[in-house]
Amino acid sequence: MKNIAVFGAGYVGLTSAVIFANSGYNVTLIEISPSRLKKLEDGKSFFYESGVNELLAQALSAKNLSVTNNSEQALKNAEVVFSCVGTPDNPDGSSNLQYVFDVAESVIKQTQDNVIFVQKSTVPVGTGQKIEALFKKHSRKISYASNPEFLREGTAVQDSLWFDRVVVGSNNTTAANLVLDIYRNVEKNKLKLAKLAGVKPKRNTPSLYVKTSRNSAELTKVTANAFLALKISFANSIAKLADAAGADVVEVMDAVGSDRRIGRAFLNAGRGYGGGCFPKDVSGLISSAEDYGVDLPIMTATTDVNESMPGYIANKANNSLGELKDKRVAVLGLAFKAGTSDARKSPGVKLANILDKSGALVKAYDPHASQEAKQDLRSNIIISDSIQDAVKGADAVFVTVDWPEFKTLDFSWLKSKMKGNIFIDAVNAFEADELKSCGIEYIGVGRS
Ligand code: UGA
Repeated sequence: MKNIAVFGAGYVGLTSAVIFANSGYNVTLIEISPSRLKKLEDGKSFFYESGVNELLAQALSAKNLSVTNNSEQALKNAEVVFSCVGTPDNPDGSSNLQYVFDVAESVIKQTQDNVIFVQKSTVPVGTGQKIEALFKKHSRKISYASNPEFLREGTAVQDSLWFDRVVVGSNNTTAANLVLDIYRNVEKNKLKLAKLAGVKPKRNTPSLYVKTSRNSAELTKVTANAFLALKISFANSIAKLADAAGADVVEVMDAVGSDRRIGRAFLNAGRGYGGGCFPKDVSGLISSAEDYGVDLPIMTATTDVNESMPGYIANKANNSLGELKDKRVAVLGLAFKAGTSDARKSPGVKLANILDKSGALVKAYDPHASQEAKQDLRSNIIISDSIQDAVKGADAVFVTVDWPEFKTLDFSWLKSKMKGNIFIDAVNAFEADELKSCGIEYIGVGRS
């Protein structure tokens, strides 16, 4: 098994393609966007992700990877086809599966017999069953495997090399084993690949290879994301109580999370979750459950709490400033989290827009995501090209992403640039005492 085709050069598709290619497979990556394709041909990814460009350059020069928009050519010799295309949300919250079915159609028309179709795109449970029915309708001998992806943006390469688990769900055991073998091979090569990518190896914990039914694998993906989103909204709910009652949510979650049954991860309160996955996957889960006649009020509550957080933080600032109207404010952080240029559904963007709507004069800065955020920012908001420009003369500074350059800010310097002295830590990443000692008033989320 040598020849792999990957559909879609997004975070999942491109990362997977360059990792498979550098693990010894012949990979063809199919990308239909002309601008993304042009960048790939020049050896550059269209997004910022540590290590991906290095692996891309290496795979292209070793000729283990080719990029094309011609699926016919790519699928001719493919033995395994990975679908990594987007499943954006429809206005009603359900997942738009158009691209996924387009890939299935190409596979039906353009592959040889006995190919394995691997679904890596995030799809609602039941999608694989529909695609298998299509294969059958066209009398095609294609095996279907669901292989959900768990990598995080910002640490995509490391997560793909040091994975907690690979899940493969298929009704065909041979196909499932062949897909798992690809990951075993990646795991064998992980140190070499980390070196090529220039990323730090992660702590060595055992990687699990999990075989499930097709439907269970599909449901595992959205359930994992929904549970993480639930943890964040739970922490944010407790943060509101901590604010009201005079407790510190960071202390609470440190203590609560030290119970190994609970765990500390994803209990960081702040401006809430964003990005291309959690908001879409939670609404997709609610919508697909409805299709099966099942209510998930716990997930609706998760969304509601999340939506409330930027406004809650703006309100806290309003109370400290007297009012927001005509105040100069800086928003540091437009990416949906640190380590990425992705600004989709970014909480920092939402907060900047709320501040602008409240009449504040907003300047925003992000080291990597300004361009991507621009289209979602209200037109009055000025995008600064440096921290210094953003904070100059500000009455209040909001930090909405824990980028290293924000975490290592010199607070005396900051105070000297600002007009006022209010610092809103929307990611609970700073110590109040350090700011206080420089004459800055600290406002966290749930840290009264
Ligand atoms: C998430 C999952 O963590 C991945 O396992 C999954 O593969 C991916 O979605 C996907 O479905 O493709 P990602 O969206 O890249 O990964 O980012 P996360 O690190 O999970 O963060 C999501 C959001 O939650 C960010 O806005 C982050 O700032 C926020 N967050 C995270 C919190 O507000 N609090 C926390 O404690 C943790």
